[in-house]
Amino acid sequence: MTKEIKNICCIGAGYVGGPTMAVIAEQCPFLEINVVDINENRISLWNDPDLTNLPIYEPGLKKIIKKCRGKNLHFSTELENNIRNADMIFISVNTPVKKTGIGAGQASDLKWIEACARQIAEHAIGHTIVIEKSTLPVKTALTIKDILGGSVNKDYQKKIGQKTFSILSNPEFLAEGTAINDLKNPDRVLIGGEDEIAVEALIKIYLNWVDRRKIFTTDLWSSELSKLIANAFLAQRISSINSVSAICESTGADVNDVALAVGMDKRIGPHFLNSGPGFGGSCFKKDILNLVYICDHYGLNEVSAYWQKVVEINDWQQKRISNIIVKNLYGTISGKKIGIFGFSFKANTNDTRESPSIKICKALLEEGANLYIYDPKVSANQIETDLDKKENKLELTTNNLEGTWSSSNTIDNTAKGADALVFLTDWKEFQHIDWSNIAKVMRSPSWVFDTRSICDLEKAKSFGINIWRIGFSAMI
Ligand code: UDX
Ligand code: ADP
Repeated sequence: MTKEIKNICCIGAGYVGGPTMAVIAEQCPFLEINVVDINENRISLWNDPDLTNLPIYEPGLKKIIKKCRGKNLHFSTELENNIRNADMIFISVNTPVKKTGIGAGQASDLKWIEACARQIAEHAIGHTIVIEKSTLPVKTALTIKDILGGSVNKDYQKKIGQKTFSILSNPEFLAEGTAINDLKNPDRVLIGGEDEIAVEALIKIYLNWVDRRKIFTTDLWSSELSKLIANAFLAQRISSINSVSAICESTGADVNDVALAVGMDKRIGPHFLNSGPGFGGSCFKKDILNLVYICDHYGLNEVSAYWQKVVEINDWQQKRISNIIVKNLYGTISGKKIGIFGFSFKANTNDTRESPSIKICKALLEEGANLYIYDPKVSANQIETDLDKKENKLELTTNNLEGTWSSSNTIDNTAKGADALVFLTDWKEFQHIDWSNIAKVMRSPSWVFDTRSICDLEKAKSFGINIWRIGFSAMI
Protein backbone atom coordinates (compact mmCIF):
# COMPACT_ATOMS: atom_id res chain seq x y z
CA MET A 1 0.00 0.00 0.00
CA THR A 2 1.29 3.49 -0.75
CA LYS A 3 0.06 6.96 0.08
CA GLU A 4 -0.49 9.13 -2.94
CA ILE A 5 1.42 12.40 -2.72
CA LYS A 6 0.13 15.36 -4.70
CA ASN A 7 1.02 18.37 -2.66
CA ILE A 8 4.37 19.10 -1.00
CA CYS A 9 5.25 21.93 1.34
CA CYS A 10 8.85 22.80 2.17
CA ILE A 11 9.45 25.00 5.20
CA GLY A 12 12.65 27.00 4.72
CA ALA A 13 13.66 28.59 1.40
CA GLY A 14 17.42 28.55 1.93
CA TYR A 15 20.44 26.84 0.42
CA VAL A 16 18.90 23.42 1.07
CA GLY A 17 15.15 23.99 0.62
CA GLY A 18 15.39 26.16 -2.51
CA PRO A 19 17.53 23.94 -4.77
CA THR A 20 16.06 20.67 -3.43
CA MET A 21 12.49 21.70 -4.17
CA ALA A 22 13.48 23.16 -7.54
CA VAL A 23 14.91 19.78 -8.59
CA ILE A 24 11.91 17.81 -7.27
CA ALA A 25 9.57 20.23 -9.11
CA GLU A 26 11.50 19.78 -12.34
CA GLN A 27 11.67 15.99 -12.07
CA CYS A 28 8.06 15.59 -10.92
CA PRO A 29 5.90 18.09 -12.86
CA PHE A 30 2.76 16.34 -11.52
CA LEU A 31 3.57 17.41 -7.94
CA GLU A 32 2.48 20.80 -6.60
CA ILE A 33 5.31 22.25 -4.50
CA ASN A 34 5.09 25.22 -2.15
CA VAL A 35 8.25 26.56 -0.55
CA VAL A 36 7.47 28.76 2.44
CA ASP A 37 9.66 30.94 4.61
CA ILE A 38 9.12 33.49 7.36
CA ASN A 39 11.70 35.77 5.75
CA GLU A 40 9.65 38.03 3.47
CA ASN A 41 12.68 39.52 1.79
CA ARG A 42 14.04 36.11 0.87
CA ILE A 43 10.69 35.07 -0.61
CA SER A 44 10.40 38.25 -2.67
CA LEU A 45 13.89 37.57 -4.06
CA TRP A 46 12.85 34.03 -5.03
CA ASN A 47 9.92 35.64 -6.84
CA ASP A 48 12.09 38.23 -8.60
CA PRO A 49 10.42 38.50 -12.05
CA ASP A 50 13.59 38.71 -14.13
CA LEU A 51 15.51 36.21 -11.94
CA THR A 52 18.52 38.50 -11.54
CA ASN A 53 18.32 38.67 -7.75
CA LEU A 54 17.66 35.12 -6.61
CA PRO A 55 18.70 34.93 -2.96
CA ILE A 56 21.23 32.19 -3.58
CA TYR A 57 23.71 31.72 -6.37
CA GLU A 58 23.96 28.13 -7.51
CA PRO A 59 24.99 27.07 -11.03
CA GLY A 60 22.00 25.67 -12.97
CA LEU A 61 19.41 26.85 -10.46
CA LYS A 62 18.13 29.88 -12.37
CA LYS A 63 17.22 27.75 -15.37
CA ILE A 64 15.07 25.41 -13.28
CA ILE A 65 13.38 28.27 -11.44
CA LYS A 66 12.55 29.86 -14.78
CA LYS A 67 11.06 26.60 -16.00
CA CYS A 68 9.01 25.63 -12.93
CA ARG A 69 8.21 28.77 -10.92
CA GLY A 70 4.55 29.70 -11.14
CA LYS A 71 3.75 26.28 -12.64
CA ASN A 72 4.30 23.61 -10.01
CA LEU A 73 6.82 25.49 -7.85
CA HIS A 74 5.70 28.43 -5.69
CA PHE A 75 7.51 30.58 -3.13
CA SER A 76 5.52 32.37 -0.42
CA THR A 77 5.28 33.34 3.22
CA GLU A 78 1.89 31.61 3.48
CA LEU A 79 2.64 28.87 6.00
CA GLU A 80 -0.82 28.06 7.28
CA ASN A 81 -2.60 27.15 4.07
CA ASN A 82 0.38 25.40 2.57
CA ILE A 83 0.87 23.26 5.66
CA ARG A 84 -2.84 22.45 5.68
CA ASN A 85 -2.88 21.38 2.03
CA ALA A 86 0.32 19.33 2.16
CA ASP A 87 0.50 15.54 2.02
CA MET A 88 4.21 15.76 2.71
CA ILE A 89 6.19 18.49 4.51
CA PHE A 90 9.96 18.93 4.29
CA ILE A 91 11.61 20.78 7.14
CA SER A 92 14.58 22.71 5.72
CA VAL A 93 15.13 25.40 8.29
CA ASN A 94 18.48 26.45 9.70
CA THR A 95 19.95 24.90 12.83
CA PRO A 96 22.94 27.04 13.86
CA VAL A 97 25.05 26.27 16.92
CA LYS A 98 23.57 27.57 20.18
CA LYS A 99 25.11 30.85 21.27
CA THR A 100 24.09 30.78 24.92
CA GLY A 101 22.83 28.40 27.59
CA ILE A 102 23.33 24.65 27.91
CA GLY A 103 25.48 23.28 25.09
CA ALA A 104 26.43 26.81 23.91
CA GLY A 105 29.08 26.68 21.19
CA GLN A 106 28.44 23.00 20.48
CA ALA A 107 24.82 21.87 20.42
CA SER A 108 22.50 22.93 17.61
CA ASP A 109 19.87 25.47 18.37
CA LEU A 110 16.64 23.68 17.65
CA LYS A 111 14.38 26.64 18.22
CA TRP A 112 13.61 26.99 14.50
CA ILE A 113 12.87 23.28 14.20
CA GLU A 114 10.67 23.44 17.24
CA ALA A 115 8.81 26.46 15.87
CA CYS A 116 8.28 24.59 12.62
CA ALA A 117 6.97 21.48 14.36
CA ARG A 118 4.53 23.61 16.34
CA GLN A 119 3.27 25.27 13.17
CA ILE A 120 2.80 21.87 11.56
CA ALA A 121 1.04 20.52 14.66
CA GLU A 122 -1.34 23.44 14.60
CA HIS A 123 -2.22 23.69 10.93
CA ALA A 124 -1.91 20.20 9.43
CA ILE A 125 -5.05 18.19 8.75
CA GLY A 126 -5.48 14.50 7.96
CA HIS A 127 -2.37 12.37 7.60
CA THR A 128 0.89 14.23 6.92
CA ILE A 129 4.36 12.86 6.28
CA VAL A 130 6.93 15.13 7.93
CA ILE A 131 10.49 14.89 6.67
CA GLU A 132 13.65 16.21 8.32
CA LYS A 133 15.79 17.58 5.54
CA SER A 134 18.12 19.95 7.38
CA THR A 135 21.22 18.48 9.01
CA LEU A 136 20.11 17.85 12.51
CA PRO A 137 21.59 16.45 15.66
CA VAL A 138 20.76 12.82 16.24
CA LYS A 139 17.38 12.27 17.84
CA THR A 140 15.85 15.51 16.64
CA ALA A 141 13.04 13.41 15.26
CA LEU A 142 12.21 12.71 18.90
CA THR A 143 11.57 16.41 19.46
CA ILE A 144 9.45 16.62 16.34
CA LYS A 145 7.51 13.50 17.30
CA ASP A 146 6.88 14.82 20.79
CA ILE A 147 5.57 18.09 19.48
CA LEU A 148 3.46 16.40 16.86
CA GLY A 149 1.87 14.41 19.62
CA GLY A 150 3.55 11.06 19.04
CA SER A 151 5.74 8.93 21.26
CA VAL A 152 9.15 7.36 20.77
CA ASN A 153 8.17 3.80 20.10
CA LYS A 154 7.04 2.28 16.86
CA ASP A 155 3.39 2.95 17.34
CA TYR A 156 4.01 6.66 17.76
CA GLN A 157 1.49 7.38 15.08
CA LYS A 158 -1.26 8.19 17.55
CA LYS A 159 -4.20 10.28 16.58
CA ILE A 160 -4.55 13.81 17.83
CA GLY A 161 -8.04 14.65 16.74
CA GLN A 162 -8.13 14.36 12.97
CA LYS A 163 -4.38 14.57 12.58
CA THR A 164 -1.81 11.85 12.14
CA PHE A 165 1.86 12.15 11.30
CA SER A 166 4.70 9.99 10.08
CA ILE A 167 8.20 11.29 10.62
CA LEU A 168 11.05 10.48 8.27
CA SER A 169 14.67 11.53 8.10
CA ASN A 170 15.93 12.22 4.59
CA PRO A 171 19.22 14.07 5.03
CA GLU A 172 20.52 16.28 2.26
CA PHE A 173 23.99 15.50 0.91
CA LEU A 174 24.19 18.30 -1.65
CA ALA A 175 27.29 20.49 -1.61
CA GLU A 176 26.87 24.14 -2.46
CA GLY A 177 28.24 25.10 -5.85
CA THR A 178 27.36 21.67 -7.24
CA ALA A 179 23.92 21.35 -5.63
CA ILE A 180 21.89 20.84 -8.80
CA ASN A 181 24.12 18.08 -10.09
CA ASP A 182 24.32 16.49 -6.62
CA LEU A 183 20.52 16.48 -6.42
CA LYS A 184 20.03 15.12 -9.93
CA ASN A 185 22.76 12.48 -9.64
CA PRO A 186 23.06 11.62 -5.96
CA ASP A 187 25.58 9.05 -4.71
CA ARG A 188 22.78 7.80 -2.50
CA VAL A 189 19.41 8.85 -1.13
CA LEU A 190 19.08 8.02 2.54
CA ILE A 191 15.67 7.58 4.12
CA GLY A 192 15.21 6.77 7.79
CA GLY A 193 11.90 5.89 9.38
CA GLU A 194 9.70 3.18 10.73
CA ASP A 195 6.48 3.82 8.84
CA GLU A 196 6.85 1.71 5.70
CA ILE A 197 3.99 3.41 3.88
CA ALA A 198 5.57 6.82 4.38
CA VAL A 199 9.00 5.51 3.37
CA GLU A 200 7.52 4.01 0.19
CA ALA A 201 5.77 7.29 -0.64
CA LEU A 202 9.08 9.16 -0.48
CA ILE A 203 10.92 6.44 -2.42
CA LYS A 204 8.27 6.74 -5.13
CA ILE A 205 9.09 10.43 -5.57
CA TYR A 206 12.84 9.80 -5.90
CA LEU A 207 12.26 6.93 -8.33
CA ASN A 208 11.26 9.55 -10.90
CA TRP A 209 14.96 10.20 -11.47
CA VAL A 210 17.06 8.09 -9.06
CA ASP A 211 17.97 4.41 -9.52
CA ARG A 212 16.35 2.21 -6.83
CA ARG A 213 19.75 0.73 -5.98
CA LYS A 214 20.90 4.14 -4.77
CA ILE A 215 18.05 4.50 -2.30
CA PHE A 216 19.02 3.22 1.12
CA THR A 217 16.58 2.90 3.99
CA THR A 218 17.42 2.70 7.70
CA ASP A 219 15.86 3.48 11.04
CA LEU A 220 15.50 7.15 11.97
CA TRP A 221 18.48 7.36 14.30
CA SER A 222 20.91 5.69 11.90
CA SER A 223 19.86 8.07 9.15
CA GLU A 224 20.34 11.15 11.31
CA LEU A 225 23.70 9.92 12.58
CA SER A 226 24.91 8.98 9.09
CA LYS A 227 24.58 12.57 7.95
CA LEU A 228 26.65 13.87 10.86
CA ILE A 229 29.28 11.19 10.34
CA ALA A 230 29.51 11.74 6.57
CA ASN A 231 30.25 15.41 7.17
CA ALA A 232 32.64 14.63 10.01
CA PHE A 233 34.60 12.22 7.77
CA LEU A 234 34.82 14.77 4.95
CA ALA A 235 35.94 17.52 7.32
CA GLN A 236 38.43 15.17 8.96
CA ARG A 237 40.12 14.54 5.60
CA ILE A 238 40.51 18.28 5.12
CA SER A 239 42.03 18.78 8.56
CA SER A 240 44.33 15.82 7.91
CA ILE A 241 45.65 17.24 4.65
CA ASN A 242 45.90 20.73 6.16
CA SER A 243 48.01 19.37 8.99
CA VAL A 244 50.20 17.80 6.30
CA SER A 245 50.47 21.19 4.52
CA ALA A 246 52.34 22.53 7.55
CA ILE A 247 54.67 19.52 7.54
CA CYS A 248 55.36 20.11 3.84
CA GLU A 249 56.11 23.79 4.34
CA SER A 250 58.60 22.92 7.09
CA THR A 251 60.28 20.04 5.32
CA GLY A 252 60.26 21.03 1.65
CA ALA A 253 57.72 18.54 0.29
CA ASP A 254 54.77 19.64 -1.86
CA VAL A 255 51.36 18.95 -0.31
CA ASN A 256 49.69 18.70 -3.73
CA ASP A 257 52.03 15.91 -4.78
CA VAL A 258 51.63 14.17 -1.43
CA ALA A 259 47.82 14.38 -1.77
CA LEU A 260 47.95 12.98 -5.30
CA ALA A 261 50.22 10.12 -4.29
CA VAL A 262 48.14 9.29 -1.23
CA GLY A 263 44.81 9.60 -3.05
CA MET A 264 45.90 7.20 -5.82
CA ASP A 265 45.50 4.42 -3.30
CA LYS A 266 42.01 3.09 -4.06
CA ARG A 267 41.41 2.55 -0.37
CA ILE A 268 41.90 6.27 0.25
CA GLY A 269 40.64 7.88 -2.98
CA PRO A 270 41.40 11.31 -4.45
CA HIS A 271 38.52 13.46 -3.15
CA PHE A 272 38.61 15.99 -0.33
CA LEU A 273 42.38 16.09 -0.19
CA ASN A 274 42.86 19.69 -1.35
CA SER A 275 44.79 21.60 1.25
CA GLY A 276 43.50 25.13 1.77
CA PRO A 277 42.61 27.79 4.33
CA GLY A 278 40.38 25.36 6.23
CA PHE A 279 36.84 24.22 5.66
CA GLY A 280 33.94 26.65 5.83
CA GLY A 281 30.23 26.35 5.13
CA SER A 282 27.24 25.96 7.36
CA CYS A 283 27.63 22.23 8.02
CA PHE A 284 31.08 20.89 8.81
CA LYS A 285 31.96 22.80 11.96
CA LYS A 286 28.42 22.71 13.31
CA ASP A 287 28.05 18.99 12.69
CA ILE A 288 31.37 18.08 14.31
CA LEU A 289 30.60 20.24 17.32
CA ASN A 290 27.30 18.45 17.55
CA LEU A 291 29.08 15.13 17.45
CA VAL A 292 31.43 16.31 20.19
CA TYR A 293 28.42 17.32 22.26
CA ILE A 294 26.74 13.95 21.78
CA CYS A 295 29.96 12.09 22.69
CA ASP A 296 30.41 14.17 25.85
CA HIS A 297 26.79 13.51 26.74
CA TYR A 298 27.40 9.75 26.56
CA GLY A 299 30.71 10.01 28.46
CA LEU A 300 32.75 9.10 25.36
CA ASN A 301 35.51 11.57 26.22
CA GLU A 302 38.26 10.14 23.98
CA VAL A 303 35.91 10.07 21.00
CA SER A 304 34.83 13.62 21.66
CA ALA A 305 38.47 14.81 21.95
CA TYR A 306 39.28 13.06 18.65
CA TRP A 307 36.61 14.97 16.71
CA GLN A 308 37.25 18.23 18.56
CA LYS A 309 40.79 18.17 17.17
CA VAL A 310 39.41 18.28 13.61
CA VAL A 311 37.86 21.67 14.38
CA GLU A 312 40.95 22.86 16.25
CA ILE A 313 43.23 22.08 13.29
CA ASN A 314 40.83 24.03 11.08
CA ASP A 315 41.00 27.12 13.32
CA TRP A 316 44.76 26.74 13.62
CA GLN A 317 45.20 26.60 9.83
CA GLN A 318 43.41 29.94 9.45
CA LYS A 319 45.50 31.57 12.17
CA ARG A 320 48.64 30.07 10.65
CA ILE A 321 47.88 31.67 7.29
CA SER A 322 47.33 35.18 8.66
CA ASN A 323 50.57 34.85 10.68
CA ILE A 324 52.50 33.79 7.57
CA ILE A 325 51.21 36.83 5.66
CA VAL A 326 52.29 39.24 8.40
CA LYS A 327 55.66 37.55 8.83
CA ASN A 328 56.50 37.74 5.13
CA LEU A 329 55.50 41.40 4.91
CA TYR A 330 58.36 42.26 7.31
CA GLY A 331 56.32 41.66 10.45
CA THR A 332 53.93 44.55 9.92
CA ILE A 333 50.96 45.17 7.66
CA SER A 334 49.70 48.33 9.34
CA GLY A 335 48.67 50.80 6.62
CA LYS A 336 49.56 48.36 3.83
CA LYS A 337 47.10 47.54 1.08
CA ILE A 338 46.22 43.87 0.79
CA GLY A 339 44.00 42.56 -2.01
CA ILE A 340 41.71 39.73 -0.92
CA PHE A 341 40.53 37.41 -3.66
CA GLY A 342 37.43 35.46 -2.69
CA PHE A 343 35.13 35.85 0.30
CA SER A 344 32.64 32.98 -0.13
CA PHE A 345 33.51 29.73 1.67
CA LYS A 346 34.11 27.97 -1.63
CA ALA A 347 33.75 28.68 -5.36
CA ASN A 348 30.38 28.88 -7.15
CA THR A 349 28.35 30.06 -4.19
CA ASN A 350 27.54 33.42 -2.60
CA ASP A 351 27.36 31.74 0.82
CA THR A 352 29.86 33.08 3.37
CA ARG A 353 28.81 31.10 6.43
CA GLU A 354 31.97 30.04 8.35
CA SER A 355 34.08 31.17 5.39
CA PRO A 356 37.80 31.04 6.22
CA SER A 357 37.99 34.52 4.62
CA ILE A 358 36.13 35.97 7.60
CA LYS A 359 38.66 34.90 10.23
CA ILE A 360 41.67 35.61 8.04
CA CYS A 361 40.40 39.10 7.07
CA LYS A 362 39.57 39.88 10.70
CA ALA A 363 43.10 38.88 11.76
CA LEU A 364 44.63 41.11 9.04
CA LEU A 365 42.36 44.01 10.04
CA GLU A 366 43.50 43.63 13.64
CA GLU A 367 47.05 44.15 12.39
CA GLY A 368 45.97 47.44 10.78
CA ALA A 369 45.83 46.40 7.10
CA ASN A 370 43.73 48.13 4.42
CA LEU A 371 41.88 45.30 2.70
CA TYR A 372 40.40 45.49 -0.80
CA ILE A 373 38.04 42.57 -1.09
CA TYR A 374 36.97 41.12 -4.42
CA ASP A 375 34.44 38.30 -4.79
CA PRO A 376 32.43 37.63 -7.96
CA LYS A 377 29.22 36.81 -6.05
CA VAL A 378 29.35 38.11 -2.47
CA SER A 379 27.83 41.56 -1.86
CA ALA A 380 29.54 44.37 0.07
CA ASN A 381 26.62 44.29 2.54
CA GLN A 382 27.28 40.66 3.32
CA ILE A 383 31.00 41.32 3.85
CA GLU A 384 30.12 44.21 6.15
CA THR A 385 27.90 41.92 8.24
CA ASP A 386 30.50 39.15 8.38
CA LEU A 387 33.40 41.42 9.32
CA ASP A 388 31.16 43.38 11.67
CA LYS A 389 32.85 46.52 10.38
CA LYS A 390 31.65 49.36 8.15
CA GLU A 391 33.09 49.58 4.68
CA ASN A 392 35.65 52.37 4.21
CA LYS A 393 34.77 54.10 0.97
CA LEU A 394 37.45 56.78 1.40
CA GLU A 395 41.08 56.79 0.31
CA LEU A 396 43.62 54.53 1.97
CA THR A 397 44.98 55.63 5.30
CA THR A 398 48.52 54.85 6.35
CA ASN A 399 49.72 53.81 9.80
CA ASN A 400 46.32 52.63 10.82
CA LEU A 401 45.72 51.80 14.41
CA GLU A 402 42.76 49.87 13.12
CA GLY A 403 42.48 48.29 9.69
CA THR A 404 39.97 49.26 7.02
CA TRP A 405 38.24 47.38 4.24
CA SER A 406 36.50 48.25 1.00
CA SER A 407 34.89 46.13 -1.64
CA SER A 408 36.39 46.00 -5.08
CA ASN A 409 34.67 45.24 -8.36
CA THR A 410 37.57 44.23 -10.54
CA ILE A 411 40.72 42.18 -10.23
CA ASP A 412 42.84 45.12 -11.43
CA ASN A 413 41.48 47.54 -8.82
CA THR A 414 42.05 44.98 -6.11
CA ALA A 415 45.70 44.71 -7.08
CA LYS A 416 46.40 48.39 -7.76
CA GLY A 417 49.00 49.71 -5.30
CA ALA A 418 48.77 46.53 -3.20
CA ASP A 419 51.70 45.10 -1.28
CA ALA A 420 50.15 41.65 -1.27
CA LEU A 421 47.32 39.64 -2.80
CA VAL A 422 45.77 36.80 -0.84
CA PHE A 423 43.74 34.12 -2.65
CA LEU A 424 41.19 32.60 -0.29
CA THR A 425 38.44 31.13 -2.51
CA ASP A 426 38.98 28.78 -5.44
CA TRP A 427 36.99 30.78 -8.03
CA LYS A 428 37.95 29.57 -11.50
CA GLU A 429 38.61 33.08 -12.83
CA PHE A 430 41.61 33.33 -10.48
CA GLN A 431 43.38 30.73 -12.61
CA HIS A 432 43.54 33.16 -15.52
CA ILE A 433 44.95 36.30 -13.98
CA ASP A 434 47.12 38.45 -16.24
CA TRP A 435 50.22 38.54 -14.06
CA SER A 436 52.20 40.85 -16.35
CA ASN A 437 49.57 43.53 -15.81
CA ILE A 438 49.17 42.80 -12.08
CA ALA A 439 52.93 43.01 -11.50
CA LYS A 440 52.93 46.52 -13.03
CA VAL A 441 50.20 47.90 -10.78
CA MET A 442 51.33 46.41 -7.43
CA ARG A 443 53.73 48.12 -5.03
CA SER A 444 57.07 46.42 -4.83
CA PRO A 445 58.29 44.24 -3.18
CA SER A 446 55.00 42.56 -3.99
CA TRP A 447 53.64 39.27 -2.69
CA VAL A 448 51.05 36.69 -3.66
CA PHE A 449 49.76 34.28 -1.01
CA ASP A 450 47.88 31.44 -2.64
CA THR A 451 46.01 29.42 -0.02
CA ARG A 452 44.08 27.40 -2.64
CA SER A 453 46.80 26.41 -5.11
CA ILE A 454 44.67 28.19 -7.70
CA CYS A 455 47.12 30.67 -9.29
CA ASP A 456 49.75 30.26 -11.95
CA LEU A 457 52.50 31.16 -9.50
CA GLU A 458 55.35 30.40 -11.89
CA LYS A 459 53.96 33.16 -14.13
CA ALA A 460 53.56 35.56 -11.22
CA LYS A 461 57.12 34.83 -10.13
CA SER A 462 58.45 35.43 -13.64
CA PHE A 463 57.19 39.03 -13.35
CA GLY A 464 59.09 39.61 -10.13
CA ILE A 465 56.32 38.91 -7.62
CA ASN A 466 57.26 37.02 -4.43
CA ILE A 467 55.10 33.97 -4.02
CA TRP A 468 53.85 31.73 -1.22
CA ARG A 469 51.63 28.72 -1.67
CA ILE A 470 49.94 26.48 0.87
CA GLY A 471 51.92 23.33 1.63
CA PHE A 472 55.00 24.29 -0.36
CA SER A 473 58.14 26.03 0.85
CA ALA A 474 60.63 25.59 -1.96
CA MET A 475 59.62 28.77 -3.78
CA ILE A 476 60.09 31.13 -0.82
C1 UDX B 1 29.15 19.81 2.74
C2 UDX B 1 29.09 18.34 2.30
O1 UDX B 1 30.05 18.11 1.24
C3 UDX B 1 27.68 18.00 1.83
O2 UDX B 1 27.59 16.62 1.52
C4 UDX B 1 26.70 18.34 2.95
O3 UDX B 1 25.37 18.10 2.52
C5 UDX B 1 26.83 19.78 3.38
O4 UDX B 1 28.19 20.06 3.75
P1 UDX B 1 29.35 22.14 1.50
O5 UDX B 1 29.68 22.67 2.86
O6 UDX B 1 28.31 22.83 0.70
O7 UDX B 1 28.91 20.62 1.60
O8 UDX B 1 30.69 22.16 0.60
P2 UDX B 1 31.97 21.20 0.49
O9 UDX B 1 32.26 21.01 -0.94
O10 UDX B 1 31.87 19.98 1.30
O11 UDX B 1 33.13 22.12 1.08
C6 UDX B 1 33.20 22.47 2.45
C7 UDX B 1 34.48 23.24 2.74
O12 UDX B 1 35.62 22.40 2.62
C8 UDX B 1 34.73 24.41 1.78
O13 UDX B 1 35.20 25.50 2.51
C9 UDX B 1 35.77 23.87 0.84
O14 UDX B 1 36.56 24.87 0.24
C10 UDX B 1 36.58 23.00 1.77
N1 UDX B 1 37.34 21.93 1.09
C11 UDX B 1 36.68 20.97 0.39
C12 UDX B 1 38.72 21.89 1.19
O15 UDX B 1 39.34 22.75 1.85
N2 UDX B 1 39.40 20.87 0.57
C13 UDX B 1 38.77 19.89 -0.15
O16 UDX B 1 39.47 19.00 -0.68
C14 UDX B 1 37.36 19.95 -0.24
P1 ADP C 1 20.17 25.99 4.92
O1 ADP C 1 21.57 26.13 4.38
O2 ADP C 1 20.07 24.89 5.95
O3 ADP C 1 19.14 25.89 3.85
P2 ADP C 1 19.40 28.76 5.34
O4 ADP C 1 19.68 29.68 6.50
O5 ADP C 1 19.92 29.10 3.99
O6 ADP C 1 19.88 27.30 5.80
O7 ADP C 1 17.81 28.58 5.18
C1 ADP C 1 16.94 28.29 6.20
C2 ADP C 1 15.66 29.12 6.01
O8 ADP C 1 14.68 28.67 6.96
C3 ADP C 1 15.82 30.62 6.23
O9 ADP C 1 15.45 31.31 5.05
C4 ADP C 1 14.85 30.94 7.41
O10 ADP C 1 14.20 32.18 7.27
C5 ADP C 1 13.87 29.79 7.30
N1 ADP C 1 13.13 29.51 8.56
C6 ADP C 1 13.63 29.34 9.80
N2 ADP C 1 12.65 29.06 10.69
C7 ADP C 1 11.48 29.05 10.00
C8 ADP C 1 10.09 28.82 10.35
N3 ADP C 1 9.73 28.51 11.59
N4 ADP C 1 9.17 28.90 9.36
C9 ADP C 1 9.54 29.19 8.09
N5 ADP C 1 10.81 29.41 7.70
C10 ADP C 1 11.78 29.34 8.62
